[in-house]
Amino acid sequence: MTSYEIKPDIYWVGAIDWAIRDFHGYVTPSGTTYNNFLIMDEQITLVDTVKSDFSRHTIKNIRTITDPAKITNLVINHIEPDHASSIDKILELAPEATIYITEKGRKGLEKQFDISKWNIKTVKTGDAISTGKYTLTFLETPMLHWPDSMMTYVKEAKLLISQDAFGQHLATASRFDDEFIECASRSELDDAVVDYYANILMPFGQLIKVKIAEVQKLGLEIDMIAPDHGIIWRKDPGGILQRYLDLANGKANLSIAVIYDTMWHSTERMTIPIMQGIKDEGVDCKVIKLRASPMSEAIKEFWKARGCLIGSPTLNNILFPSIAEFLTHLRGLRPKNRITGAFGSYGWGGGAVKEAYEEFKRMKLEVVEPGMQVLSRPSMEDESECYEFAKDFARKVKEYHGKFS
Ligand code: FEO
Repeated sequence: MTSYEIKPDIYWVGAIDWAIRDFHGYVTPSGTTYNNFLIMDEQITLVDTVKSDFSRHTIKNIRTITDPAKITNLVINHIEPDHASSIDKILELAPEATIYITEKGRKGLEKQFDISKWNIKTVKTGDAISTGKYTLTFLETPMLHWPDSMMTYVKEAKLLISQDAFGQHLATASRFDDEFIECASRSELDDAVVDYYANILMPFGQLIKVKIAEVQKLGLEIDMIAPDHGIIWRKDPGGILQRYLDLANGKANLSIAVIYDTMWHSTERMTIPIMQGIKDEGVDCKVIKLRASPMSEAIKEFWKARGCLIGSPTLNNILFPSIAEFLTHLRGLRPKNRITGAFGSYGWGGGAVKEAYEEFKRMKLEVVEPGMQVLSRPSMEDESECYEFAKDFARKVKEYHGKFS
């Protein structure tokens, strides 16, 4: 591992986690990074730490630039352990360093560490420190991602260190957006942005809009946004701000996510005429089988599409467990501006489709009722009905989508 200069005398000193696949329940097939930044100035400042498993990585990276004992300031933008659990290791080397953190962050640290001997200064929006040639201004961003969260703006570098916001779970050799796009693709990067947003930040869309408006009102000049996960936005920082506004406004593609599970393939058989009906109405369609795909993949596809059809067999008169889990998880993410429907097979008494609609209504999502149910294996007639059901649903999705354009 090594360090990278991202701005004059400002270095990425973070860690790349190639192997993580389960990030507190969120599946991360591409791993992640824990980004933190060292500002070499009259006062040396470290902004954020890394997950404790990687503390020796960041310390080694810091050593390529300076002796960690020389760190004067430690800015902690967020206390979730993926960013803050190496604080004690840094302070073992730089015990006199002053921590800059929000009041909620300080209270949270008390639960994680013995902070009685640490120098801590709490900060709020607008507070600033000078490190020499650089000025660091703090901007509280509660609930992006936790109540303690804040961002750090380095005025003279036009750099916004944005903590979780604008991140992506991508372990990659690329440190910057333009590097990644050259090695992989823009669509792969956007997919990672949407995946991260949908699974982590979807409930906070309104707050995101307020914070972006606040940044714009402050007139901060920003030519680089450095999140604590994934690549750094240097080519198009304005693009990621706009992308977040779109996501926060619930912008979606004219497409339908068909998310299903199946016991003996009856519900699965229904997906074929359903997919065809959607396609024949000129609407794009993505079919995802739960238990074969990570939950986070299904959440991402749900958020990309304007419409969603849930397919669930009935098990003991209720939803199939994987579908129930998905809908519970989705409810917690507080989705909006989506239109939904349900289908499924049953053996003797139904129940799954009815429950799916109840869940959608709890989420205050638009619904197209009554859905489509098939007893046992779908017959040819049932398949024709599924096809017509899907065509009708796709027409309603087009109509609904039109309200947002
Ligand atoms: Fe990447 Fe909320 O921590």
